[in-house]
Amino acid sequence: MTTTSTTAIAPPTLALDNGNKELQLTDDPEVWEDYRRRFETEGYLVLEGYWSRATCAALRGRMNALIQEFDLAAHRSVFSTDEQSRTSDDYFLGSGDKIRFFWEADAFDKETGAFRQPRAASINKVGHALHDLDPIFQQITYTPQIGKLARAVGGLSVPLVAQSMYIFKQPRIGGKVGAHQDGTFLYTEPQSVVGFWWALEDCTMTNGCLWAVPGSHKGGVTRRFRRRGEEGGTEFVPAAAGGWDLEGGLPLEVKAGSLVLLHHALVHYSLENLSAASRHAFSVHVVEGGEGTSYPEDNWLQRAPEMPFQMLP
Ligand code: FE2
Repeated sequence: MTTTSTTAIAPPTLALDNGNKELQLTDDPEVWEDYRRRFETEGYLVLEGYWSRATCAALRGRMNALIQEFDLAAHRSVFSTDEQSRTSDDYFLGSGDKIRFFWEADAFDKETGAFRQPRAASINKVGHALHDLDPIFQQITYTPQIGKLARAVGGLSVPLVAQSMYIFKQPRIGGKVGAHQDGTFLYTEPQSVVGFWWALEDCTMTNGCLWAVPGSHKGGVTRRFRRRGEEGGTEFVPAAAGGWDLEGGLPLEVKAGSLVLLHHALVHYSLENLSAASRHAFSVHVVEGGEGTSYPEDNWLQRAPEMPFQMLP
């Protein structure tokens, strides 16, 4: 069966009110120069307390509502068919302009297809167009301040939001994310992607916080992830991983609401969640849409023509 019916979602039940604003950053040009310099030197920038705990709670609540509304019947088959990898590829490759749910590898009983634990504790991530299809995630993504960060710190002139992901890092089963560079997955010519990553819960070394290798972005992006031609699916070019030295990796143990900006070539990763607590995060990736930069047709993430990437205000 096909897996195409994930765009219809109910109206939001939560509203972001005055208690849920983002932190108002100063206009002081010297502070912004410092942000820019840190991003350029380290390859990332941490802004503590960017969202209030109330905002984080509202977003977690919104995601929980989406999970409850989601029609599971159409999607359980994704992981119960014999052609699992092909179907998964189609489901993944078609998610660029939809809200789709990606389960942890062991979410379903192989015999019955039933959930092995509560569905909210079985999801790995939700992607990749929450920011354009869900009013709450749209509202918190398209803000002038995020636009200013993309321009003044990320160096973009026409910042287009390419994707969003809600990441769960489930208690005890939340797997690691291997070392990578975001420019591998959201490739533009020349490279431009800037990652915005928000902790929605406190992040520690035991619940699988983000790790970054300061300065690693200076080596450039070493490989690309792209769609294969006729045979379908995806591939890394070159096939081998970067072989980066992770010796200098630093754990970014940040509180809920903190924002981390990530350079396209920064080597970053996260470890397993060994704790009894989840570690939710929300991320968006922004690419340059101005003249002289192209977004290749063989990038894994594509949009329908009627749903192009939108610019940050
Ligand atoms: Fe990443």
